[in-house]
This record gives sequence, C-alpha cells and structure tokens, in this order.
Amino acid sequence: MKFTNLVDRFDRPIRSLRISITDRCNFRCKYCMPEEIMNFMAKDRLLTFEEITRLATIFAKMGVEKIRFTGGEPTVRADFPRLVQMVRDATKLKNLAITTNGARLEELAIPLKESGIRKINISLDTLKEEKFNAITQRTAFRKVMAGIDAALSAEFDEVKINTVAIRSFNLDEVIDLVEFGIKKGVTVRFIELMPFYNNQWERENVVPMDEILSILETKYDLAPQQRDSASQTSLEFIIDGDPQKKVGFIASVTRSFCQWCDRVRITADGKIRPCLHSSYEVDLLGLLRDEHKTDADIAGAIQNAVWNKSEGHEDFLSEDFALPIKDRPMMRIGG
Ligand code: 5AD
Ligand code: SF4
Repeated sequence: MKFTNLVDRFDRPIRSLRISITDRCNFRCKYCMPEEIMNFMAKDRLLTFEEITRLATIFAKMGVEKIRFTGGEPTVRADFPRLVQMVRDATKLKNLAITTNGARLEELAIPLKESGIRKINISLDTLKEEKFNAITQRTAFRKVMAGIDAALSAEFDEVKINTVAIRSFNLDEVIDLVEFGIKKGVTVRFIELMPFYNNQWERENVVPMDEILSILETKYDLAPQQRDSASQTSLEFIIDGDPQKKVGFIASVTRSFCQWCDRVRITADGKIRPCLHSSYEVDLLGLLRDEHKTDADIAGAIQNAVWNKSEGHEDFLSEDFALPIKDRPMMRIGG
C-alpha cells in the first residue's frame, strides 16, 4: 500500500528523513554535548533495528527519497552496517547517507559502503591535534585522519567534511582547512554555530558565512555554484574555476533555509521531530510497540506531526533571542 506523500501546512514536501540511531558518542564536542553529566537513553527505549526499518519503509511510501543516519555518533551503535542493509533492502532507497565524526571509519568504511551507504559527511573542526583534543575532549585525531582516508579509499559517491566555524576556536584555520579539502579532493563545508540546549553558544562565536568568504577571497577566486535542488542546505562555491575544487557553507544562522526545508527527524527514542530548532515532537515508539496499531495508523501520526512542522526558526542573532531552557541537547536530536 502506498500512503499519501508528506507535506506540511506551508506546502513544503518532505523528502528527507534523518534518523538518530543512538544518543551516545565517543566524543564530547563542547558545542554539542552539555557540560553536565547526562544519562544516556535506556536501551529499551531505543528504537530496535526492526522498528527503524518499519518506520523507514513507511516514510519511503510517503515520498521520502533520502535517509541520513545520525547520532550521537551512529557508528557506535553495535552492528550499524546490518541496520543500513535492512533499511536498504526494505525501502529500496539509493540515497542513504551518514554523518559521522570519523573515528570508527577505518573499520567501518567498507562494511558501510557494502551495506548501501552512498554519501558520508565527516566532522572535522581543526587540523591541529591539541585543538582537536580540546574541543572533542577525547584523543582520536589520528583515528579521524585515518578514517577520512578510509572513507576516500572506499569510494563513496560523496565524501564531505563538515567544519563548525567558531570565532574563538578555528577562524585562523579556514584557509588551511580549505587547502586540506583541496589536497584530499573533498568539499569542506563551514557550518555556522547554532544554539542548542546547554551548548555554551554565544552570539560572538558565530562566524557569518560572508566573513569566511572574504577571508577565502584573499587567496582564491570563488564562483557560486548552481544549487542541485531547491532544498539544498549548503551554498557551494567553485574554487579558481576548477569544478573539482569546492568549498561550501551551511549558513543556518545568517541565511536560514527554512523556507525550502524538506526534512524531518526521528530521535533515537522514537519521536518524530519535524524541526531541529523546535521542541515540538510526537511519540511514535508507543505506536510501534502497540500491536493494535497498523502502518496506516503510524503514517497518520507522521502526517499529523509533519503538518505541524514549524515555519522556521528564530533569528538567533536578534537581541530578543533567548537560548532554549527546556529541550533536548543536540546529541539527543541528531545532527
Ligand atoms: N552548531 C553547528 N553544527 C553543529 N554540530 C553539532 N553541534 C553543532 C552546533 N551547535 C554538527 C557537528 C556535525 C553535525 C552532526 O552537526 O559538527 O557535523
Ligand atoms: Fe559526538 Fe558529533 Fe556531538 Fe561531537 S558533534 S560530541 S562527534 S555527536
């Protein structure tokens, strides 16, 4: 049975699903994990592989074309490649992606490729080992470097590097990071620092895309690239006229793309969260575990939640913007 395609009340079709498969992570990035010790989700509250596959299948029948697995850190969930394979076989979707910190890619790049992952985003905020250790509060710099190489050797359709730009931390490295991307043949994308519950966000630490662009323009000739689709979140530029060399920006703070947003999220504990920056969520775990509920019931709950997708997030730079006081931290939402 096919269900009606998902659309929200602002006429935005939903084509992209991000599934957080765990809130655990082997890093403790300061802009992601709250400072206080948090309990991780209890195992019996996590979606099982079968539940994730069932949800993914329902979403695919509702028009979702792309699934990205996130965390926490998705690769710390045991048997992750098997989950990918289950989702691929059940949904037949080709557009399967992950976002990872890269620390486990040496072991997992090939199994993930074989299970059906096509695109991979690896987070890397600095090229200096001491700084890397300071921001992640772990010592895995070399593992991540080896993980990036493993991902490149595995020949995914796409490997990208995500760098969160933080004024007090890595503004001095933007050219070095772009050079690193050119050397490796991957696109580096700078992400503007976003506020999340308890993530030590400060307005002053947001580096607007335009500021990075003007730094890069001291060295490179940058030409904006045509977007692949209206819902593409990143703005990409071709470097020095060579289409093999690119740099990108995810400017969620200074150029929000809410109007074109085509995504929804599933949290590891089975809630649908239509907007990253709105605390509105609807529980699906209860429905999945109620034997009287059919796929049609679940599809109905999903459409309902999507209908209420927030129109957009606030202007984080405005004077009135206040940090959320009651919400999930990023690690419990998924990137
Ligand atoms: N602002 C911007 N990006 C963030 N990420 C995590 N926290 C933030 C934040 N506060 C990024 C990670 C990774 C992805 C999961 O989200 O660096 O690339
Ligand atoms: Fe882990 Fe990614 Fe959060 Fe860092 S940003 S703590 S790697 S989930």
